[in-house]
Amino acid sequence: MKKRIFALAAVSAMALGLAGCSSGGGETTAAATEAAETTAAATEAAETTAAAEEAAPTEAASGEVANKDKPLVWFNRQPSNSSTGELDMAALSFNEDTYYVGFDANQGAELQGTMVKEYIESNIDTIDRNGDGIIGYVLAIGDIGHNDSIARTRGVRKALGTGVEANGDINSDPVGTNTDGSATVVQDGSIEVNGQTYVVRELASQEMKNSAGATWDAATAGNAINTWSASFGDSIDVVVSNNDGMGMSMFNAWSKDNQVPTFGYDANSDAVAAIAEGYGGTISQHADVQAYLTLRVLRNALDGVDIDTGIGTADDAGNVLSDDVYVYNADQRSYYALNVAVTAENYQDFLDSTVVYAPVSNQLDATAHPSKKVWLNIYNAADNFLSATYQPLLQKYDDLLNLEVDYIGGDGQTESNITNRLGNPSQYDAFAINMVKTDNAASYTGLLSQ
Ligand code: BGC
Ligand code: CA
Repeated sequence: MKKRIFALAAVSAMALGLAGCSSGGGETTAAATEAAETTAAATEAAETTAAAEEAAPTEAASGEVANKDKPLVWFNRQPSNSSTGELDMAALSFNEDTYYVGFDANQGAELQGTMVKEYIESNIDTIDRNGDGIIGYVLAIGDIGHNDSIARTRGVRKALGTGVEANGDINSDPVGTNTDGSATVVQDGSIEVNGQTYVVRELASQEMKNSAGATWDAATAGNAINTWSASFGDSIDVVVSNNDGMGMSMFNAWSKDNQVPTFGYDANSDAVAAIAEGYGGTISQHADVQAYLTLRVLRNALDGVDIDTGIGTADDAGNVLSDDVYVYNADQRSYYALNVAVTAENYQDFLDSTVVYAPVSNQLDATAHPSKKVWLNIYNAADNFLSATYQPLLQKYDDLLNLEVDYIGGDGQTESNITNRLGNPSQYDAFAINMVKTDNAASYTGLLSQ
């Protein structure tokens, strides 16, 4: 496997090394024909090829590299079809040095669902606020076309028994309002504690998209809980959100004062601190590991070393990740960080979400790993998780990895707002991309292929 990666890198680097000719393959064929004329010439040609192969990695790292051959990492929004979730493998394997970095969505979704269920079970005596025997919850959905958001909606419905099957999986559509339990998108679930059975109902759920089109919108979630609580507030026993940005907005608008446990995702510092004030819990998607991996795969590709360096294999500074914090799926060319539940029991350990992960916090030597320029965008500069947790971490790791990163903040609505600012890709050595919409990879790869 490792050998294969090296061999492929050497081949592409060799093509670049060949007199900067765009049709490296043609030249090789011509040389081979010529070489076949005499045995001596053939031997010489073989030697030249071997030498080129050996010199290739360094040459590729410092010489003129076409934009389409530069290292590229997608992060946080995985190139995929927003209706079917199918991965966009063309984008994920755009060139030899293309990867995705995110987190294990299914493992995290299951953790979130289980966290909510366990909270209900251990607080069963007080949770049913109006005493009608129904545990009612409302759900804030981030983006109906984002596979991570879909997974979280499914995870909660699965754990609480409110999911309904659709096309072989749990339906993740928003229900609108369902106070009477008559909806078909979800069903009433049940939870049994101490021999007693309680009904669990998804009273309402909606995609939190603002009028301008921004998804995962915290302000929209704050408005939604105000609307919902005004008409059926007594029935709401639990508030669940696909992320902390929306969760905290709902907590501050209503649930904190009404002592209704609210659950989010991301373990942003403000949400973790709120656990002391009644926020139910959140999930850490190990942004400290993801931010590292995002820049690390670029660093490795730029250094021309094995992609596992400083990841599964310790680098020269001692940086290494253990396999309990991430998985690599080679077929998907994707690194996934693993999630951890953050509750009243362990939140003290998660109070600052911007601390670098200690096992990968060693500075790289600037001689062996010289400074390189990276273009990186955040799809929405106002996104709570990306701006309050992910970007501060990236800014710490860029120093440790000797990368000079230009951070571009988008408006969360239009891809062109971001791609317009990738006018001169030739200025950069590598790219890190966070799309507005997971279908839009070609808007970026198109620019790099020009
Ligand atoms: C986070 C959300 C964030 C989204 C942006 C998710 O992984 O949990 O909080 O809004 O990424 O793409
Ligand atoms: Ca109730």
